[in-house]
Amino acid sequence: MKTIAEYSADVETALRALSFPGGKLASLYQPIEYALSAGGKRIRPVLTLMGADAFGGNASEAMRQALGIEIFHNFTLLHDDVMDKSDVRRGRATVHKKYDENTAILSGDTMLTLATKFVADVPDSKLRMVTDTFNDMALKLYEGQRLDMDFETSEKISLNEYLEMIEGKTGSLLGAAVKIGAIIGGASGKDAQAMYEFGVMTGLAFQIQDDWLDTFGDATTFGKPIGGDIMNGKKTYLYVAAFEEGGKTVEALHTAFNIAPGEMRVKTVTRLYEKLGMSEKCKKAVGHYSAKALKALNSTSLGEEEKEAFRKLAEKLIGRKK
Ligand code: IPE
Ligand code: IPE
Ligand code: MG
Ligand code: MG
Ligand code: MG
Repeated sequence: MKTIAEYSADVETALRALSFPGGKLASLYQPIEYALSAGGKRIRPVLTLMGADAFGGNASEAMRQALGIEIFHNFTLLHDDVMDKSDVRRGRATVHKKYDENTAILSGDTMLTLATKFVADVPDSKLRMVTDTFNDMALKLYEGQRLDMDFETSEKISLNEYLEMIEGKTGSLLGAAVKIGAIIGGASGKDAQAMYEFGVMTGLAFQIQDDWLDTFGDATTFGKPIGGDIMNGKKTYLYVAAFEEGGKTVEALHTAFNIAPGEMRVKTVTRLYEKLGMSEKCKKAVGHYSAKALKALNSTSLGEEEKEAFRKLAEKLIGRKK
């Protein structure tokens, strides 16, 4: 197995080698290059490559699928930033801000189709399994995104509803990324499913950490402005966990969320989250779902070296600041 830094460098090189039509179609493809060149963490394609390597295949056999997964992820971000009215990502203007919303929609659609083609570029014997995994994931992700938006206007969201939502919008993609790699590497059905579970649980921890960073992170390191979730009335882990406490806590939070979206609301809600110990609760939850991920990993037939490589990746994500 290579190191995470090496896998991620391989992804970066392969992404840079992609070429897109220019000329009169530059207005369609240039925003795609813009999005793909902004330097994300590349964790999803790294998971795909690692999955292929770990199960006795070769990472290079899964590079097309890894790229497809990263392009798909970036497609979801183009549309997500329109839905969330987010102007900054990875420390620079989002596509709808740099160009316009129509561009984010259509270049996003184009990325979805490119991603689908890349993912389906596998030997026939694996085509059905890989495309089913990919398409099932995509539907789950859209369902999660829909719930995320619907929750903006509903007051009471239970922890289970929240978990269902983030499993869809975030967990499913991490799960499918590693599962597709595992299938290409030759994993048994049982191992591929356990790796899917590993990815999903890692994804839950990852999204809870993202929720925490959106309120308590550093904007420069995180690459996204702080407080966006509070402005949008997002039912993040912080909100839902506070809600679980009930009583006065919830009342105070309701009142704070009724302040007009702006700096004042962000300040007030952040102070409340702090007072309620939500930062600590988030950390605990991240640890909880990471432990579940490791349990799934341990249930596979992988050797110690391979398991250790996935553990390292999970560990890196738990403490992430960006
Ligand atoms: C952002 O994903 C969307 C979430 C699921 C929180 P990442 O945090 O992986 O974004 P990049 O690709 O590294 O920028
Ligand atoms: C990410 O949710 C889920 C998808 C993009 C599918 P967020 O809305 O929390 O992601 P960020 O914070 O904008 O990256
Ligand atoms: Mg969103
Ligand atoms: Mg968003
Ligand atoms: Mg977020």
